[in-house]
Amino acid sequence: MEKILLRNIDVPDSRSLAVYRSRGGYGAWEQVLRDMTPARVIDEVKASGLRGRGGAGFPTGMKWSFVPKDSPKPKYLVCNADESEPGTFKDRLLIERDPHAIIEGTLIAAYAIQSHTAFVYIRGEMARGAEILERAVGEAAAAGYIGRNVLGSGYDIDVIVHRGAGAYICGEETALLSSLEGGRGWPKVKPPFPATHGLFGCPTVVNNVETLAAVPWIIANGAAKYAALGTEKSKGTKLFSVSGHISRPGVYELEMGYPFKKFLEEDCGGVPGGRRLKGVIPGGASMPVLLPEEIEKVNLDYESVQAAGSLLGSGGVIVMDDTTCMVRAAWNIARFFAHESCGQCTPCREGCHWMEKIFHRVERGEGRSGDLDLILSVSANIMGNTICPFGDAAAMPAAAFIRKYRAEFEEHIAQKRCTVGGDW
Ligand SMILES: Cc1cc2nc3c(=O)[nH]c(=O)nc-3n(C[C@H](O)[C@H](O)[C@H](O)COP(=O)(O)O)c2cc1C
Ligand code: SF4
Repeated sequence: MEKILLRNIDVPDSRSLAVYRSRGGYGAWEQVLRDMTPARVIDEVKASGLRGRGGAGFPTGMKWSFVPKDSPKPKYLVCNADESEPGTFKDRLLIERDPHAIIEGTLIAAYAIQSHTAFVYIRGEMARGAEILERAVGEAAAAGYIGRNVLGSGYDIDVIVHRGAGAYICGEETALLSSLEGGRGWPKVKPPFPATHGLFGCPTVVNNVETLAAVPWIIANGAAKYAALGTEKSKGTKLFSVSGHISRPGVYELEMGYPFKKFLEEDCGGVPGGRRLKGVIPGGASMPVLLPEEIEKVNLDYESVQAAGSLLGSGGVIVMDDTTCMVRAAWNIARFFAHESCGQCTPCREGCHWMEKIFHRVERGEGRSGDLDLILSVSANIMGNTICPFGDAAAMPAAAFIRKYRAEFEEHIAQKRCTVGGDW
């Protein structure tokens, strides 16, 4: 398969402008400015079938088309480089090895919605990534790709790299915008959506790093070539970050619809040490875990993973072998969400801590009968009752761990100790 997103990452000095240009970089941006109206750019991205890679899979061209054309307010394009979902490290690879692809995609997206100011909001801990992006923006500006009257087109665009402070919730788009405005990173109720009421109340598009990095290739090679890849509803290629009990962890680019089992066993070398697979989280820690038998017929596209009872999410694949204590795994994830809840709404603020505390007491051998149903009840009370999808993201994995490994949880409670004995 021809690589689209990872096409440059193994080339020496891939992050420099000279290397990026030698491989056709900024050709799509020149083509857009020379030959394409904003509406044509949107149509091309719509025709490609590209869907957002930040987790929800929303059609990218459609999102861009929601920005009102007649608004007198400034419009903003924000590249979401917050990547904090446990098990997800694909955007970081693009940021560190192919920053110009992200910048070129950001410029094209900004032009499509007629924004003159674009932001790259990068997670605070990614200091190296921020420096690389800042350097790349400086190089692109010096070469005339960013700034006033870009390449003589009459179009002006600024790109600002903004460092977050390292809160997971700032990856959620409305929290990100609150943070970018200088406030606390608190999500806002939707609607209104950012397309009409975003940054400083102005029309704004927020797109993930991987989404934007795919755009220059789509423009340069044509929507049809991208749409020819993947399945009917999940087009193109996607990055998967694979971690945990797997022989060859790392970031992989796959055509959408690739068989999950084949991917784990052949491409990633399977579970090491002759151990058995016990469970896989397919889309980052906020997605429900799948049993080995559940992945038998699953393909890596939005529809297939959803039909199996989970979600493709960010493509963060976490593999667990039979040494994994599922009580500890569930507690570990619950602890993360309890720590990261922004505290704005009661079901999430209180419920995440309840779930963490109950999982913890089961884990340390102090679980009580009724604890598992209590967690399921807390989880059900969070689901759908919060301002932002963080609540569901915390509730879904907790319930899935209990439903799928209930006997192991019950044994923990009955024996007052772990009977698996692994280190996770
Ligand atoms: C709790 C939470 C955390 C999120 N974190 C990220 C993130 O780190 N990066 C990201 O691109 N999207 C993240 N999202 C999704 C964004 O809200 C948004 O949907 C996405 O950036 C849109 O880009 P896309 O259309 O290109 O996918 C998160 C959502 C939630 C609910
Ligand atoms: S669901 Fe949680 S993270 Fe989202 S706004 Fe409510 S308290 Fe904050």
